[in-house]
Amino acid sequence: MRTNDLLLATGLTKSYGPTHALAGVDFTVGRGEAVAVMGPSGCGKTTLLHCLAGVIAPDLGQITLFAPHGPVSVGGASSEDRAAIRLNHFGFVFQQGLLLPELTAVENVALPLLVGRTSRGAALGRAAELMARLGLTGLEERRPGQLSGGQQQRVAIARAQVGDPAVVFADEPTGALDSQTSSEVMHALLASTIGEGRGLVLVTHDRGVADRCHRVLSMLDGRWAGAQPTRQLPPTGPARATDPATPTMTAASTDSPRLGATR
Ligand SMILES: Nc1ncnc2c1ncn2[C@@H]1O[C@H](COP(=O)(O)OP(=O)(O)OP(=O)(O)O)[C@@H](O)[C@H]1O
Ligand SMILES: [Mg+2]
Repeated sequence: MRTNDLLLATGLTKSYGPTHALAGVDFTVGRGEAVAVMGPSGCGKTTLLHCLAGVIAPDLGQITLFAPHGPVSVGGASSEDRAAIRLNHFGFVFQQGLLLPELTAVENVALPLLVGRTSRGAALGRAAELMARLGLTGLEERRPGQLSGGQQQRVAIARAQVGDPAVVFADEPTGALDSQTSSEVMHALLASTIGEGRGLVLVTHDRGVADRCHRVLSMLDGRWAGAQPTRQLPPTGPARATDPATPTMTAASTDSPRLGATR
């Protein structure tokens, strides 16, 4: 274990009948670190993400979240406990924002808090604050259908941060966007995750998107392709607001530097 590990997984396997979606995978992500997972369709990327995030349970293997109050076993938890872990420690961004069409943008962002114990006023206030930091001021009362694809993804990114998660999981977050919008959304995603000291686990088919993360890992048939990924600290260490390589949380800038991949 590295001192800045947030999530550590060893020996993950998951089969669907004869399909070995995961065939023994180790993984780690640290504070302020962005890890990209690439690989051909069907190689197991989403299955890995869903196991790490507690959406599904692996057949075998350990997943430990190093929460502020101590280590938590994600892999061995009951489905109820995994739901609580997801709500309290993780954020999610999907290819299509998966926003609820009948809610306003600010209500969508506030949703994870509204299903918890936060008062409606406090939840909407926090959501509006995050929207402002992502360059979405003035769009709070719009419904998702009244927003562009890039704006919808930034709303989804704001929603993923609202519970102050330790780790954010993003499954092809730019898959439905043009390259310019993809670049803006990546900047917003990096700024609001690693820029805040969170871990980011990102699945993508886009090499340019992956290369903006600290590490790029390639999967093939449920395993890491080639050698096992080395575990090492991101080049900048835990991200701080003052790190020159760490994008600040503004959606206007699209010049997020490549952070340097360690493969
Ligand atoms: N719920 C399921 N039931 C049965 N098989 C599944 C299920 N989920 C995934 N699989 C199978 O497991 C394998 C890995 O699927 P997974 O969705 O993880 O791939 P992926 O790498 O995310 O692919 P893509 O790039 O197309 O999203 C595939 O062969 C898939 O058909
Ligand atoms: Mg997938």
